[in-house]
Amino acid sequence: MLKKSIEKAFNEQINAELYSAYLYLSMSAWCEKSNLPGFAHWMREQYREETQHAMKFYRYIAECGGQVKLAAINGPETEWKDIAAIFAQTLKHEQYVTSRIHALVELSAKEKDYAAGQFLQWFVGEQVEEESHAEQIVVKLEMVGKQGPAMYMLDKEMAARGAK
Ligand code: FEO
Repeated sequence: MLKKSIEKAFNEQINAELYSAYLYLSMSAWCEKSNLPGFAHWMREQYREETQHAMKFYRYIAECGGQVKLAAINGPETEWKDIAAIFAQTLKHEQYVTSRIHALVELSAKEKDYAAGQFLQWFVGEQVEEESHAEQIVVKLEMVGKQGPAMYMLDKEMAARGAK
């Protein structure tokens, strides 16, 4: 049986993951409008992953006999200065999500909920990847500058995400 404190915190994490999805979809729309189709694709993939993260929490709550309770999702921003601002925010946002996951790990330890702790380990590893990917793109964007052929090539590279 799921403790109420864990159920509540996991439900809040569903909301946080869906907010992340919404934020990245909004960023994708901005990229699309800004003639950066590769970045738009990358952000749509990111959106898709975030919905999967939300569903992992959803299924875990349901499997443990808890109740999934969905709440309103805040509206994300819709305008950014440039693509570098988008990825600076993405990195910051993922660092925030990491801090949330770590807080959940601490809560599960405090509650002696070892199953929840084990479930959360996947997210601990995933956040290392999430931060690393965002950081790599921040660095690449610093290298290519604002536009020109290098930006065109980077946009093409971003279009390859998920294509294997
Ligand atoms: Fe669900 Fe990007 O962390």
